[in-house]
Amino acid sequence: MTQPETEPFTKSLERMNLFQEPEARVLIADLDLPEGSRGLDVGCGVGLFALWLAAAIGPRGHVVGIEPSKERVEAARALVGHGPLASRLEFREGDATKLDAPDASFDWVWCGDVLHHVQETGRALGEFARVVRPGGRIVVKESQLLHGSFLPGHPALERRLRQAEMEWSRHEGGEFSFEERRQRTLASLRAAGLSVERFRTYLLERRAPLPPAARDYIQRVVFERNWGPRLRDRLAPDDWTRRSALCEAESRTFVLDDPDYYCLYPISVLVARR
Ligand SMILES: C[S@@+](CC[C@H](N)C(=O)[O-])C[C@H]1O[C@@H](n2cnc3c(N)ncnc32)[C@H](O)[C@@H]1O
Repeated sequence: MTQPETEPFTKSLERMNLFQEPEARVLIADLDLPEGSRGLDVGCGVGLFALWLAAAIGPRGHVVGIEPSKERVEAARALVGHGPLASRLEFREGDATKLDAPDASFDWVWCGDVLHHVQETGRALGEFARVVRPGGRIVVKESQLLHGSFLPGHPALERRLRQAEMEWSRHEGGEFSFEERRQRTLASLRAAGLSVERFRTYLLERRAPLPPAARDYIQRVVFERNWGPRLRDRLAPDDWTRRSALCEAESRTFVLDDPDYYCLYPISVLVARR
């Protein structure tokens, strides 16, 4: 049964981006993108990564962010389209599998946590290779959620929650769940004829007392949305009761109030050269 969302997806994306911001800025800096370069952010969501990419390439740089729906393009424009870096940013409607851009018109393509939504992965990667200039880079970021931990001390329950989440995402991911698809990205890049020159994983680690962005993301997105009502019918009643005791803010045993709480969240960055 499909459950209503707890909040617009764009709000959840904003919370996820802000949770990741410190490491996101580091992993972007590690790419050493050329000053004044021109990049394409495919599936830019609410635009915060496009903003951080634009900050890294200096005042002569330019980032075009694309999203398939008008509503998401508007969300990105509203959040970051009017700030101090607005002149370096442009948001448009677009689809990863049919990019509206000439061949070799970008120095790099960034695609963060998007490919698991795209059924025709090979076609999208072929498009990335087409629009990047020879010698340019295709950067794919994948959050490795299955290797993360949001319920330290409760690994068996967390594993069952993640299993239920994988089953839930199969309805959108087709044959494979989102998590299975994320783990196939390296193979997909090779199958598309792209050689991956770097595969590096950054580990986000937060511990109590949690910074506000971490508490906000874990409570509102992981616990209330991802592990919320949409999983209820996919869990045994005892597991739902245990999940509620640990993950609901009103519970006396809410994990985020535990002074020894911590979470781990790995992010892989794959870089292929055209
Ligand atoms: C998990 S979000 C990640 C958004 C953003 N890259 C970020 O890191 O916050 C996945 C995004 O991919 C977009 N998306 C889904 N299918 C797409 C497609 N065929 N082409 C471009 N973007 C797509 C969705 O609209 C959504 O905003």
